[in-house]
Amino acid sequence: MKKLPVKVFSEWAKTGKDIGMQKGHKSSVDKMLSYATKDLKQYSFIDAGCGNGWVVRDISNSKECISATGVDGSLEMINKAKYLDSVNSYFCEDLIKWIPKNKVNLVHSMEVFYYFKNPMKLIKHIHDNWLKKGARLIVGMDFYEENKTSHNWPEKTGVSIMELLSENTWKKYFENSGFKNVNSWKIGEKENWEGTLVITGIK
Ligand SMILES: C[S@@+](CC[C@H](N)C(=O)[O-])C[C@H]1O[C@@H](n2cnc3c(N)ncnc32)[C@H](O)[C@@H]1O
Repeated sequence: MKKLPVKVFSEWAKTGKDIGMQKGHKSSVDKMLSYATKDLKQYSFIDAGCGNGWVVRDISNSKECISATGVDGSLEMINKAKYLDSVNSYFCEDLIKWIPKNKVNLVHSMEVFYYFKNPMKLIKHIHDNWLKKGARLIVGMDFYEENKTSHNWPEKTGVSIMELLSENTWKKYFENSGFKNVNSWKIGEKENWEGTLVITGIK
């Protein structure tokens, strides 16, 4: 029987598979973040579905980053993040319910949004409750309709909620949630691999 995403990722954290994700995602994430931060002088940052917190630790080394926060529903992931980093903030919460104390300039997320039954609800929640006016949401995903190689992941991973959506549908969700300047592109295309789909927009 398939398991809920957070349950599966807690098992991954226990067996060290979070490090594999970190390595696999780093090159796409680095490109996403250099795009998202290029015009920012000072910014506050949240990683939605931060796993072991590696992106929070990376970005907090940048002198323009004034605060970095990670949120994840897996206690095992958050415990690892806190063990590795006592400076930045980490919260073990369901993204769909959590609201930050202070709105931020940049929300980033890698390989998380399709683990929600109603991803548009999450996008709208982040738009309305996490971001300042003029702030950016940037999301990267490898599991999507055009990337055929990813289609067997629900079977391979045994995760119960994985919404397979097209690039256009994701863009529409951003636009319908109130985001402006919605843009998408792919990073790291190769044979039999469409690359990481990046979607971004400004509140
Ligand atoms: C594929 S992992 C990606 C982790 C991290 N972004 C990275 O690149 O290493 C997906 C993460 O989303 C988290 N997640 C899934 N559903 C969630 C939810 N409803 N609330 C909070 N976190 C969730 C999982 O616990 C997991 O750590």
